[in-house]
Amino acid sequence: MPLTRRALSGQALAALATAGLAQLLWSRDVVAGAVRPALGAWLTDLAEMTRALRGRQLGEREFQRLLDDLCERVDPADLHAAVDLDALMARAALPDTGARSVDVDLAALAGAPRLGFGQRVFACRRGRAIVPHGHDDLCTAFIVLSGRWRGRHYDRLETHADHYVIRPTSDREFAPGDHSTVSDHRDNVHWFQAETDRAFVFNVHVACHGRGGGSRVYLDPDGERLPGGAIRAAKLDKLACVARYGG
Ligand SMILES: [Fe+2]
Repeated sequence: MPLTRRALSGQALAALATAGLAQLLWSRDVVAGAVRPALGAWLTDLAEMTRALRGRQLGEREFQRLLDDLCERVDPADLHAAVDLDALMARAALPDTGARSVDVDLAALAGAPRLGFGQRVFACRRGRAIVPHGHDDLCTAFIVLSGRWRGRHYDRLETHADHYVIRPTSDREFAPGDHSTVSDHRDNVHWFQAETDRAFVFNVHVACHGRGGGSRVYLDPDGERLPGGAIRAAKLDKLACVARYGG
């Protein structure tokens, strides 16, 4: 019998999840078949910006500023129409701690074979968190789809063998439609705690020039306070960070 999504049992899906295939299947299930024209144009604009960044016609600071402007312009209702959150909830069980992430691919909705940047939805139970982390060589944006979140950001100032030096830049509530951006140059570290159930964030992420590939670095922002408001943030591995901050 051919392998179809309908034929996959929950047990089989669980097994496939370890290989990443189930997530791909889920992402096809959660993307709508049609896109509102404004969202298609928004995705096309971001794809053009991404090409300009990779071609070095745009610097990373300018790209982040434009990404902020772009996020101001997206209608959260259009994102809701494009990503079926109920289907996502049905497919992807939320973890007891930390966040669930599902890659989605909206390229077809923009009439393009590929967009050149990643798209993902994060989901948390109430009280759980997208744990504190920074990125190397990545510009990324969070746009809240639903729920309320507490979002904290830090500049990453220095890198040492066992710690980073970070400085808090913002700590505020995020409601649907609110957004923030991250780059190597501003607000590199972010940390989002879900204050309600059905807490979803839409994410776009653009690897910059392929140096570090956008990899995450995990850290402990509850470290020694240094002169001038900075923090000595110990490096953590992912498991330790989720254990401490996942909720
Ligand atoms: Fe991130």
